[in-house]
Amino acid sequence: MSEKNVSHTKWMKRAIFLASLGKNTTSPNPCVGAVILDKNGNLIAEGFHFKAGMPHAEAMAFGNLKKDASGGSMYVNLEPCCHHGQTPPCVDKVISSGIKDIYISIKDPDKRVSGRGIRLLKEAGIEVHLGLCKKESLELNKSFIHKNITKKAFGVLKWAMSIDGRIGLKNGKSKWITNEKSRLLVHSFREEFDAIIIGGNTLRQDNPFLTTRGSKIPEPLRVVFTKSLDLPSKANLWDCDKAKTIVIYDSSTADESYLARIPKCVEVEKVSSDNPELISKILAKRGCNKVLWECGPRLATAAIQSNCIQETITFIAPKILGGENSMNPFGDFEFEEMNEIIKLSDSQVSLIGSDICVKSSFEN
Ligand SMILES: NC(=O)c1ccc[n+]([C@@H]2O[C@H](COP(=O)([O-])OP(=O)(O)OC[C@H]3O[C@@H](n4cnc5c(N)ncnc54)[C@H](OP(=O)(O)O)[C@@H]3O)[C@@H](O)[C@H]2O)c1
Repeated sequence: MSEKNVSHTKWMKRAIFLASLGKNTTSPNPCVGAVILDKNGNLIAEGFHFKAGMPHAEAMAFGNLKKDASGGSMYVNLEPCCHHGQTPPCVDKVISSGIKDIYISIKDPDKRVSGRGIRLLKEAGIEVHLGLCKKESLELNKSFIHKNITKKAFGVLKWAMSIDGRIGLKNGKSKWITNEKSRLLVHSFREEFDAIIIGGNTLRQDNPFLTTRGSKIPEPLRVVFTKSLDLPSKANLWDCDKAKTIVIYDSSTADESYLARIPKCVEVEKVSSDNPELISKILAKRGCNKVLWECGPRLATAAIQSNCIQETITFIAPKILGGENSMNPFGDFEFEEMNEIIKLSDSQVSLIGSDICVKSSFEN
């Protein structure tokens, strides 16, 4: 790689780093970072998008300008917007700044923008270079891109199991399989997510809090999916001071008289079937880019079968539960041949004390 290309990569990586600072806060928007150099290649401004409604990365960088940007260069990990949303179009700002060239990592998947922002920049005589650090930029905004293309939230399924692959005893008891460090780590993992989903049975059996314990404000939305609506009148999820909760129920099977047990501060929404895809779609519509499924085997199996899961996080503890009737992480997928089984890839493994944490992706 030439010296010039190394330096272009260096600045784009800086833009990607800045973008990553908004990783837990930008939903429903993407993570974007921007860097501006003057005509001599000196850094004169930087910016990143922190939250919807706040300035976009480019606008923040122009707001931070220390000197004239004309003849300079800009590095941004996502195509600048060209539509009027909550803030004015960034393309106009780039054009009026007198910048000579712009390095854009990836196109915006948003139909209102995709390719149009680039076209407007080119028409204004700005040299556009597309594709620098594409892999890193796709990785950083994979949830945003997935949501825009599929209209479903990017789903991560998390479960904790013993070394013999059990998630609980046959009587439903599962506290605690993993060590305290792993459980604390789960609280911090939750910061990355816009919503956390369980099924009605996990609510009845475990009565979880599903919060980050205050490290993300507001806390991720807590979601209970139920077919029966037979939920208890007392539950930690009903404490609306801690976090918002929504109960989504299948109106074709639920007994709506149970609605009286749910406090008024909890939102309730009905859907027409028990297909978990409906949850992914509702949450995407509400602006969730990335959601964590912390459900038990039955809902987890259905969520995988309806393509709601893109990644997995598995905690494995050096414990043996044994027994044919102890709980498995999944129900039956009815596979008949080995070529039908689910394959995961890109696994990252880490040790959490004596537990093992494995993060993997579903193969496309
Ligand atoms: N070790 C772990 O990582 C872990 C994690 C989570 C849970 N667990 C354990 O798992 C057990 C609960 O397992 P579970 O499988 O019953 O989990 P679940 O998370 O409660 O999911 C099943 C429930 O989801 C609702 N549901 C909605 N749509 C569904 C669909 N299409 N398919 C299946 N269910 C649907 C139903 O609620 P209604 O019954 O209200 O209609 C159903 O009973 C508990 O003992 C809990 O301790 C372990």
